Amino acid sequence: MFNELDFSKIDTWKEAPSDDTKRQYYYIAKCQEEMRQRAEKRGTAFTYCLTTFGCQMNEKQSEVIAGIMDEIGCVRRESEDADIVIYNTCTVRENANLKVYGRLGHLNNLKKQNPDMKIILFGCMMQEEHVVARIQKDYRFVDLVFGTHNIFKYAELFYQMLSSETQIIDIWEGTDKIVEALPTERNYDFKSGVNIMFGCNNFCSYCIVPYVRGRERSREPQAIVDEVKALVADGVTEVMLLGQNVNSYGKTLETPVSFAKLLEMVEQVEGLRRIRFMTSHPKDLSDELIEYMARSKKVCHHLHLPMQSGSSRILKDMNRRYDKERYLELVQKIRKAIPDISLTTDIIVGFPGETEEDFLETLDVVDKANFDTAFTFIYSKRSGTPAARMENQVPEDVVKERFQRLLALVQEKGKIASSRFEGTVQEVLVETESKDKGIFTGRTQYNLLVHFPGSKELLGKYVNVRLETCKGFYYLGKMVEM
Ligand code: SAH
Ligand code: SF4
Ligand code: F3S
Repeated sequence: MFNELDFSKIDTWKEAPSDDTKRQYYYIAKCQEEMRQRAEKRGTAFTYCLTTFGCQMNEKQSEVIAGIMDEIGCVRRESEDADIVIYNTCTVRENANLKVYGRLGHLNNLKKQNPDMKIILFGCMMQEEHVVARIQKDYRFVDLVFGTHNIFKYAELFYQMLSSETQIIDIWEGTDKIVEALPTERNYDFKSGVNIMFGCNNFCSYCIVPYVRGRERSREPQAIVDEVKALVADGVTEVMLLGQNVNSYGKTLETPVSFAKLLEMVEQVEGLRRIRFMTSHPKDLSDELIEYMARSKKVCHHLHLPMQSGSSRILKDMNRRYDKERYLELVQKIRKAIPDISLTTDIIVGFPGETEEDFLETLDVVDKANFDTAFTFIYSKRSGTPAARMENQVPEDVVKERFQRLLALVQEKGKIASSRFEGTVQEVLVETESKDKGIFTGRTQYNLLVHFPGSKELLGKYVNVRLETCKGFYYLGKMVEM
């Protein structure tokens, strides 16, 4: 499909086309020419290093950047000792932010030694005014800065950067554009994320995502199905449908389509074996979806259902629009319909005003819900969000102590929940070889990992493995013939 396009056939003497996709193809061709000439002149190819912070949506968007970099003749390398260093940033919590600033100091030193070096920052963190102001003031050596809404314009921005001596900053406030069919370089041959929607309208009071990703926009179902078909034709058998709140997929389309309906359409793609999705917001999880998951042959029995807190009072202040009882009812309903479901969740500790009683409610839900695993976060104040302005922020030592107690319970319960498959044989998709040669890692439909002896030909294949010993969130096992 798009990866087979021959960009060198594009006439770069003409003016740039106005159609979004064609225009970027044109700039890819221009960058290709320019980089070829530069590489010939200095006698070696240009290298790039691309680092991604944050969620799977950032991972997916980085694949587009990598696709374009490869297309224009740059060679990827892992180390930052490269000609072009690119960061796809995240700002969901303060520590994601600090990591980027920390690395910039080091890059400045590298740049002094390599006159060809370019530094590019993009993604969620760049949508914040104070970040861009700081880069303009203290990090003049950064060459290109753009945000989340104009990633599709990367080739054009890259071309501008090549002919500019000064820092280029291009941040959009928002967009209603969804630009399809840009080149991509996938991280895995056999599985892939697929964006089904962008942005978020929920405005949970602690969360910065709606401010940096903009309003919710769904892709047309046919565009999604076409992308899945192309991926399957290219060897993919497992897709992960991505969105901040997949349960509200399709509501804003001209012809609205429910998420369950979309799953049904994707399921019909022949050759596709597994469908996953992320993330589900409990407030929008429909009975239609639960029923569909229960009868589907391809949708994995794993549901990531972030609860954030077990206290109804805190959930209200978080603007989550469900309470403790509704969350537990949902868990029960799901377990009744899909008894073997694996449930995972996200939990925040130390939201403003959280008391010991509120925290005990969170522990109570963890105790009752039997999650396979929970991602636990210390509340991080994000400027511009309503929670940042709330009084009674919880003291750090109290939060840390609660965090440790939560972690201990999550691990204890998780070990019990995950070990329910001990001794059973499960079909796994073989994903990677571990550092110990000859040991491979496969993933069950329940998202549980198992390490087992195998060989390289198994990568990307489905095999049956007996899960012999549960080690908490992973198993040790052996392959079996069926
Ligand atoms: N859209 C998803 C979550 C995306 S962010 C959802 O609503 O479920 C991933 C997780 O980061 C959230 O579930 C939340 O637990 C955590 N998170 C978001 N903002 C945070 C903050 N300010 N401090 C700590 N954790 C946060
Ligand atoms: Fe953030 Fe809430 Fe949107 Fe998730 S649903 S991205 S937590 S605002
Ligand atoms: Fe981070 Fe942006 Fe994702 S803030 S979690 S990379 S949407």
